Amino acid sequence: MERDEQVTGATVPGGTELPFTASELAEIESEALAAIEGALSLAALEEGERGALGKRSRFSGLYQQLGKLAPETRKEAGQRLHEVRRSIETLAAARRQELEAGERAARMRADRLDLTEVFAGPTAGHLHLVTQVREQLEDVFVGMGYEIAEGLEVETDWYNFQALNVPIDHPARSSVDTFYLEAGASDENFLLRTHTSPVQIHLLERNKLPIYAVAPGRVYRRDTPDATHLPVFHQIEGLVVDRGVTFGDLAGTIDTFVHAIFGENVSTRLRPAYFPFTEPSAEFEISCQICDGAGCRTCSMTGWIELGGSGMVHPAVLEATGIDSEEWSGFAFGFGIDRLAIMRYGIADLRSFIENDVRFLAQF
Ligand code: DAH
Repeated sequence: MERDEQVTGATVPGGTELPFTASELAEIESEALAAIEGALSLAALEEGERGALGKRSRFSGLYQQLGKLAPETRKEAGQRLHEVRRSIETLAAARRQELEAGERAARMRADRLDLTEVFAGPTAGHLHLVTQVREQLEDVFVGMGYEIAEGLEVETDWYNFQALNVPIDHPARSSVDTFYLEAGASDENFLLRTHTSPVQIHLLERNKLPIYAVAPGRVYRRDTPDATHLPVFHQIEGLVVDRGVTFGDLAGTIDTFVHAIFGENVSTRLRPAYFPFTEPSAEFEISCQICDGAGCRTCSMTGWIELGGSGMVHPAVLEATGIDSEEWSGFAFGFGIDRLAIMRYGIADLRSFIENDVRFLAQF
């Protein structure tokens, strides 16, 4: 066979003719460059590259024929193919950089936090859980005919202690660490109230009997925050003074509000205790909400959890405010609202209330 008769090197081993024409190669190149230039995403770019240089591309088809060529021809053809590949790869690398920069910018735009934006939609927020529980308690007592009394957060020693039958040297003082205030040239000792009980004295001083009142509010103690203590927390005080008030009325009142807050399946009990301003005094407890009274770690295996203190108003407290303890009698109670809230809602740590983590707060 004459060499002249060979049409393409592709069909004849050791061929000496290039397996492509210059215009064919130019067409392959310009098609590939157009696809790469026009790619609008990294994925599209990859597809364009695969179409241009991948296994099933026209380019690759030509490349595979190189082995069949005579050495000189193969070198020539190889060089031309190599140039085309280089030009395609160079453009692809440049386009990749552009697209990556664009996608990065888009991601940053999407992640951007606009701190000037004010959102006032239906999920704008709600009352803190402690405030919600305080309002629930207020509703329960208003429903029982009580008034809501306002107290003072800054009190004098007289209201916080002495009028409540806790004289200066009384041992009960050492059990609560008090924040005392320096309040100018006054003989009176100002302090941040350690409990809501001083509101009892303000109510009694009004001298408007009978009294059926609750007083919720903030109280302060020098405690280090932990799972069960906060230096600033909330209590609600109850005071009833009327003719013929009995301990049975106290027990019934506690039972009624506990059921209103915790539901009908909860039991309450009173345990003898000591408070200077009540006699007799009792701590009131509810059946443990975690183990349903069976005994668990939360209730120290007792099945009961203490909620607060209570008792019959001590005659000395009535007399300190000029009320005749022969004619009038009453009961009082007080407990922590935060503590009631963690029991009611199964919260492990009181500190969650002051950390302001919206993910926690938004649950309630
Ligand atoms: N003030 C007490 C305290 O903070 C709680 C308390 C006990 C209030 C007995 C009362 C009461 O009204 O009668 O620990």
